[in-house]
Amino acid sequence: MSDGSRPITPLRVVFVSAEASRVAQVGGLADATAGLVNKLRQLGVNVHLIVPEYGGVELDDEIREPLPMPTGSGPAFARHGHRRGLGAVTLISAPGIARSHPYLDPRTGFGWTDNNERFLGFCAAAAALIELDPPDIVHLNDWHSAPIISWLEPSLCTVLTIHNLAHQGVMPAALAHLFGPRRAAFERHGELNALAGAIVLADLVVTVSPSYADEITRPRGGNGLEDLLHARGDTLVGIRNGVEPDEWRPDLDLRLPASFDGTDLVGKRACRRMLLERAGLGPVDNRPVIGMVARLTEQKGVDIALALTSQVEAFGARLVLVGDGEPTLWRHAEATQRQYATTMRALPFEDRTAHLVVAGSDLLLMPSRFEPCGLPQMQAMLSGTIPVVTGVGGLRDTVIDADLTPATGTGFVARDPTVASVGDALERARRAWADRPRRTAIQQRGMALDWSWQQPAKAMIRCYQGALGRQFEDPTDKPSDVIDLTRLPAPARGDCQGSRNDTHFPSRPMSR
Ligand code: GLC
Repeated sequence: MSDGSRPITPLRVVFVSAEASRVAQVGGLADATAGLVNKLRQLGVNVHLIVPEYGGVELDDEIREPLPMPTGSGPAFARHGHRRGLGAVTLISAPGIARSHPYLDPRTGFGWTDNNERFLGFCAAAAALIELDPPDIVHLNDWHSAPIISWLEPSLCTVLTIHNLAHQGVMPAALAHLFGPRRAAFERHGELNALAGAIVLADLVVTVSPSYADEITRPRGGNGLEDLLHARGDTLVGIRNGVEPDEWRPDLDLRLPASFDGTDLVGKRACRRMLLERAGLGPVDNRPVIGMVARLTEQKGVDIALALTSQVEAFGARLVLVGDGEPTLWRHAEATQRQYATTMRALPFEDRTAHLVVAGSDLLLMPSRFEPCGLPQMQAMLSGTIPVVTGVGGLRDTVIDADLTPATGTGFVARDPTVASVGDALERARRAWADRPRRTAIQQRGMALDWSWQQPAKAMIRCYQGALGRQFEDPTDKPSDVIDLTRLPAPARGDCQGSRNDTHFPSRPMSR
């Protein structure tokens, strides 16, 4: 530090999430948790990661600890240990939480009917563990861990990250006894709302991109919570997610058949060839390959992508969709595949396939209706795969339209999440792709940007400092040798205007 003063102790953060890569993964929450926790630890923060125990996870150096359940609803215990690629982790076992899938009953394709009780039990047990040794900051993520705050002393500093406002944990008022003493904050319109209570009580609310932080304060993006979010003022901030380079950089990703980087894209051809073989969409010729990796939900605009298959066929391209999710969307994808057998392929989600699609495709399609951050567009840019996205949330913050801003463009941004608008962006991308020097320039710009967790994790540390109202030394704080995304021109705008700067954080101590 410039004044020579030293921090007394490292900042201690308890970080609670329903998912973390290498322990429990359903969607981007798992990647975001593991990526941020790993980077915070590298930057000197002492992070105690807590995840529910869904079953079947082995830990190294395991120690078990029984936990007092404040709700008295059965035994709970903590398993403290280590996991390769993630480091120290505590898995909390509470009544009913262990299941074959964290959220969904495979027999019905819908959520387990007792999800509310399961996650409330987990929260009570996690709160009991936190109370044994309170940290400087408790950082909660999404509705599954939000009720922990109902058990905590108001003096304990708390941060809530919203990864997706579409999931709020709305439940009947009759479950109030499963919340802690601060349960009144969770009452909303005659029901209980797990996320709403934490939005009110947390010292700081973070969401995963600056544009999404702005969108959720308005009726159109706020999912009914816009009043609470708007009321947070400058204690609601957006920090975009990052991507773990070891996992997604094509020169480091061991899942790929060949490695490549921005100076030599030859290896990308081998990935493309393998992708076309795996999808059965040969021959390996010059027609562009469009990839899409998404949970099959309305949010991701899978129906928009499927509706564009005729256009894709008309301009001689191919579309590979990888994902799991809603059975009706999967059936829709299968029907489209039957109709356009030489153009479109739907493959179930599998880690290696997802990596192959991201690295081997020419274009990556993300026609999301809303997108808190989105990770595939950043993973794609790392691999020289040109993203074609809608101008919403984190997509708008990470992709710069190459027609609107030719000198810095990294992809193509559709104005609206509609078939016409996304079709137009796709056509613009196809034209750019056909122009080899232009294509290479767009690819190389995306590959040169810093998509790692370095900047987001530093922004999070500054937020922690602000929330605590005290200074914390960042031991690795040195000038970055990569392009600083925040200095690039703003990306193309959709119809949501304005954004919250991800380096904007409360500089004054906040009221608790
Ligand atoms: C959710 C959001 C996605 C975000 C991810 C991680 O899955 O839908 O946009 O990237 O969480 O924060």
